[in-house]
Amino acid sequence: RRSYHTVKALYQLGPQQEVDVKGWIQSIRLLKKIAFIDLRDGTSSKTLKIAIPIRDSSPLDLLKSIKTGQSISVSSAQWVPTPHREQPFELKVIDPLKRIQVLGDVTPQYPLQKKSHTLQFLRTLPHLKHRSNYMGSLLRFRSHVELALATFFQQEHFTKVTPPLLTSSDCEGAGELFKVDSTAASAQSYFGRQTYLTVSTQLHLEALALALSKCWTLTPCFRAEKSDTNRHLSEFWMLEAEWCFPKDVHELTLVAENMVKAVVKSCLEQKDELIPHIIPEECEPAEIVVQRWQNLLGSRCWPTITYTEAIEILATQHKKQAFPKYEPKWGSALQSEHEKWLAGEYFKSPVFVTDYPRDCKAFYMKQNDDEAGRETVACFDLLVPGMGEVAGGSMREDNLAKLVQEMDRRQMNRKGDLDWYVALRKEGSAPHGGYGLGVERLISYLYGNHNIRDAIPFHRSATGTIE
Ligand code: 4AD
Ligand code: MG
Repeated sequence: RRSYHTVKALYQLGPQQEVDVKGWIQSIRLLKKIAFIDLRDGTSSKTLKIAIPIRDSSPLDLLKSIKTGQSISVSSAQWVPTPHREQPFELKVIDPLKRIQVLGDVTPQYPLQKKSHTLQFLRTLPHLKHRSNYMGSLLRFRSHVELALATFFQQEHFTKVTPPLLTSSDCEGAGELFKVDSTAASAQSYFGRQTYLTVSTQLHLEALALALSKCWTLTPCFRAEKSDTNRHLSEFWMLEAEWCFPKDVHELTLVAENMVKAVVKSCLEQKDELIPHIIPEECEPAEIVVQRWQNLLGSRCWPTITYTEAIEILATQHKKQAFPKYEPKWGSALQSEHEKWLAGEYFKSPVFVTDYPRDCKAFYMKQNDDEAGRETVACFDLLVPGMGEVAGGSMREDNLAKLVQEMDRRQMNRKGDLDWYVALRKEGSAPHGGYGLGVERLISYLYGNHNIRDAIPFHRSATGTIE
């Protein structure tokens, strides 16, 4: 026999003879002849209703002392079906003095109450906010998404790998590295070698893909981002996939699209479990979120345009004063306002933008055969409404001479930290490519909360707290 049931198990199992549960008080309502406790235990967005008939005054002291936030255990409760109510059953406790025990008290200052709190308020309580229905649901949603991603890659015959997080190279070449600091004894870092926290595990994944054909990983990545926006974190989780023998960049986008759709499908299958019951005003209501999931699956293929086409579309719109800050110009990176407009206003759908100018992207991307002056690379970004870029990937330059030339053009230290990477092109090299997806960005987008700080339990950013 189990020592106690979780809330999630009780909803799944159905009627039980006697039930023991443990959890936290969401709310208590004390009436003349009965008291109702709403109990949550964090395993589900649902709560348990516990009904306590009051036959005499003996349990009153106990019931009056029960407060939102306390942890309690309840033993030998009876299962009572309530088919006409919102919750299909409740638990009846006849002898509360014997059956209910307070395990952990709260102070009078306990800040979370049964009502819906604003996100702004919840964010001021990094150590407590996850107990709110909304934030708790967001973490369960994230856990579900991670499992759905793993299932997708397992089905597609990708091997899950574990690349290092300490590295000597700047994969993206953007200089946003956190340096591993020196020990007190040494003037240099990490046992005398220049070492950083990884910004992307891609370079190591390329080596692994050349051994395993298809691999993927989910790791923390670190970027000393100065931009403190609702889509940037200094520590975030990236899903990266890398595989050999894709035909072209369109094959990469197809895998990315199928991956996101597989996640969305599994979210829809479990929507009753995943959607929060108490949603702050500033967040999207449940119907809108579910509708978005359905729309994402409904459309056959998300649109794909080239960067050059994107600039043409944006330039027409720019004439109408849509982007007062940044004029869209061939050769410049797309700004987040451009990305959001393209996906949110123009296509009203996720959209793949391919073939960016070489100088907008990283050194490892495969060069296209373009006319001079308009050099592009075989890459893509996946843009979604409200968020802009959620994923980016490319075919990798597998031509040794071109890779070396590009690294030299960028004045990179090719012979030092990256000679192993360059050497991969000499030993059984193969056409390969892949992408990286920001997990918090995907979670926020799917969940309808456009601030990625809520999609990670304890967020790290340039100006945030660090507890
Ligand atoms: O576009 P990025 O920089 O691409 C790479 O790092 C490639 N090496 C990935 C690959 O091909 N294997 O980052 C990939 C994704 C972005 O699209 C974005 O969603 C997310 O990672 N990302 C961030 N998310 C939160 N905070 C940040 N500071 C992020 N920087 C990138
Ligand atoms: Mg990118």
